[in-house]
Amino acid sequence: MIGTDGASSSQKIIRAIEAGTAAVFKTPAVDVVWATEGLAKDHDWQASIIARSTMTAAYAYTGTGKKPEPKKLKTVTYWCSAKTDLDAAQKGINYGAAVGAGMNTARQLGNLPANICTPNYLAEQAKELAKGQANLTTSIVNEAQMQELKMGSLLSVSAGSVEPANLIVMNYKGADSSVKPVVLVGKAVTFDTGGISLKPGRGMDEMKFDMCGGASVFGVMNTLLETKLPVNVIGIVPAVENMPAGNATKPGDVVTSMSGQTIEVLNTDAEGRLILCDALTYAERFSPDTVIDIATLTGAVIGALGKFTSGLLANDDELADQLLLGGTKSGDRAWRLPLWEEYDKQIKSNFADMANIGGEAGTITAACFLARFTKSYKWAHLDIAGTAWLSGAQKGATGRPVPMLMEYIRSKTVSE
Ligand code: BES
Ligand code: MN
Ligand code: ZN
Repeated sequence: MIGTDGASSSQKIIRAIEAGTAAVFKTPAVDVVWATEGLAKDHDWQASIIARSTMTAAYAYTGTGKKPEPKKLKTVTYWCSAKTDLDAAQKGINYGAAVGAGMNTARQLGNLPANICTPNYLAEQAKELAKGQANLTTSIVNEAQMQELKMGSLLSVSAGSVEPANLIVMNYKGADSSVKPVVLVGKAVTFDTGGISLKPGRGMDEMKFDMCGGASVFGVMNTLLETKLPVNVIGIVPAVENMPAGNATKPGDVVTSMSGQTIEVLNTDAEGRLILCDALTYAERFSPDTVIDIATLTGAVIGALGKFTSGLLANDDELADQLLLGGTKSGDRAWRLPLWEEYDKQIKSNFADMANIGGEAGTITAACFLARFTKSYKWAHLDIAGTAWLSGAQKGATGRPVPMLMEYIRSKTVSE
């Protein structure tokens, strides 16, 4: 059952492994052996969770401040009595370690401050990731090219920033070109001040994490390079900075999106949907199998689901179910919210095809906005505003939802 946690729940095993891993890293232990046979029958799965949690526990932020102390742990051994279980365990270790590495990639990009991690920095990182890789190519759509594509909505967000916007496209080719790709679209607002609809000062530093959706796409690409999964995945990352300025977009301004639909920008702080809509229209050119966007989109999702669960909204039930299942299997869970007409009506505008904010249920009205740009393909939206990073003493990016996305992508290779 997805909606309940029974006593034998895989979630309990995942949390126990994570707690065990954290405990090991607090000791001076150099070698650790996991003798957890009997806990979960599926050695592939259990070993993957152990490898993943080891990788993520080994991560230390680098880039600014003091160099972290090297970790003492050198080897992790997974013990099983039957030789036949070894292959499954080895497979799980390889997969889980790659997922953990992908999460760490996402965390590092998320944690970097916005004066380092700019839209240009992200573009450079995408090129770096593809260097020497036969099955990954990167291309960048710059502002001049966005003008030509008529991405008026995306450009309206970066108008007030001195940092130029980039639409980053990463193309992982693991399968025959006849196989339709999964397209991931990740919001990367490298800093969200709110623009002219300026945010209050308290805790504003955390808006450096407003690029975590985009960072998770980098994480998935990184994992795909390591696992070499036979799938085609395209990552699209619209990267912008949202700033107030003399030439910034103002509340009440009307912009025209790439789709031709016009948008009244009632609140410049609802900028994520404004960059995503043009990226989602751009995704059409890849004839996608499915499109999933990942975004720190609304504070409202934290009110609804807290910091544990990502919001999921979709125009296709099968896709939604597959993502929920991927979340359950990996312990990186989401919960679905509806996309009903009543909510869609709330983004009506007297001056444009739609407004960029609605009434209540902010997570749903934001998704209703996006749904108007995703009618030609199967689409799901993950609102990770609550799950992408932790605040307080634990402040830092989590690397979610890389595990859920990878589980979904992996399921495509085994069932088709
Ligand atoms: N990046 C924020 C969402 C956010 C807020 C994430 C707080 C995590 C914590 C997004 O761009 C935003 O500002 N959304 C507004 C929308 C509103 C103006 C309709 C929000 O949630 O307040
Ligand atoms: Mn905002
Ligand atoms: Zn934002």
